[in-house]
Amino acid sequence: MILPVVMAGGSGTRLWPLSRGNYPKQFLSLSGEHTMLQDTLSRLNGLVHSPAMLICNEEHRFIAAEQVRQLGVKHSGIFLEPVGRNTAPAIALAAFKAIEKGEDPLLLVLAADHIIDDIVSFHQSVNKASELAKQGKLVTFGIVGNKPETGYGYIKRGEEFSTGFVVDSFVEKPDLETAKHYIASGDYYWNSGMFLFKASRYLAELKAFRPDIYNACKKAIEIQSNDLDFIRVDRAAFEACPDESVDYAVMEHTQDAVVVPMDAGWSDVGGFAALWEVSTKDENGNAFTGDVKAVDTKNTLVFGEDKLVATVGVENLVIVNTKDAVLVAHKDQSQHVKSIVQQLKAEN
Ligand code: GDD
Ligand code: MG
Repeated sequence: MILPVVMAGGSGTRLWPLSRGNYPKQFLSLSGEHTMLQDTLSRLNGLVHSPAMLICNEEHRFIAAEQVRQLGVKHSGIFLEPVGRNTAPAIALAAFKAIEKGEDPLLLVLAADHIIDDIVSFHQSVNKASELAKQGKLVTFGIVGNKPETGYGYIKRGEEFSTGFVVDSFVEKPDLETAKHYIASGDYYWNSGMFLFKASRYLAELKAFRPDIYNACKKAIEIQSNDLDFIRVDRAAFEACPDESVDYAVMEHTQDAVVVPMDAGWSDVGGFAALWEVSTKDENGNAFTGDVKAVDTKNTLVFGEDKLVATVGVENLVIVNTKDAVLVAHKDQSQHVKSIVQQLKAEN
């Protein structure tokens, strides 16, 4: 059995001011009618039988629950984290919950904020991976990358292994020069941040490599309380858990990692440049949302929320107008929006 686990606890700071602390990226609709979380859940139709388990910050519980309700799908519980402790603990909570009833499902770990164009190809990769995961492998999905993105982790593939490849090594977010070398070599995939493994295998590896995280999560879930759809864990125990990603905590250390390639039009929409790329554009390369008037404007992304936005004689800009903040950035520099968010946090 495959149990989807959707991680929806990120903050999406590189899409500020669209993405906000109280309404982050995964709950926004950036490409079409549905939100990113809803698209993530819809993508599972025809692939799995078990409803997804969601994990998000308790602050976002009503947004998450309402978006699932609107979509009209079932879920297997919404885990509420009192604080964000990154993905290794989030997955541990799901894994402990999954084995509570003596079962040991394959966890299909997904991020709630990815775009995948080719759903058939996504399903094929998951089906290939499930054979490997059943054998106790920890499968990561490797995206066939086409440019030296520095916002992603990279996976070097080793020897062919059944329907995938042994993972030779993981490198989290390399610098540009290194990334260029990786892409040119053809031996590396982008780390999609999606995984498939048995719940028990993940917990065993976590216990081996990060017993501190394992023990903190075990303690946090032992004192769980459930109300309605929500599963709450013990605040003090979870607060005491170290903050670590699954990549650093487990995937970089395990001897049982395999990578299954995925070529499914994937993007994690990690910033405005990526959002511009996946958006539908006019003949001048512009992607406009809202009320926009443009003259002699090229390759520009505009979000106009509540008033008219007009541009004249500009190119490669990102302009985001929301009720209380306006962002104007060069498209190639838009990753640095994160620094603005840090500055704002420091001032508050
Ligand atoms: N529940 C929960 N709790 N979810 C979280 C938390 C948390 O504390 N932190 C992050 N997430 C969710 C995010 O919402 C996102 O969907 C996913 O986990 C990945 O977290 P990011 O913070 O977006 O990670 P990243 O983009 O910097 O890097 C990861 O993903 C890349 C691909 O998108 C790494 O796995 C990279 O190696 C990978 O290339
Ligand atoms: Mg991300």
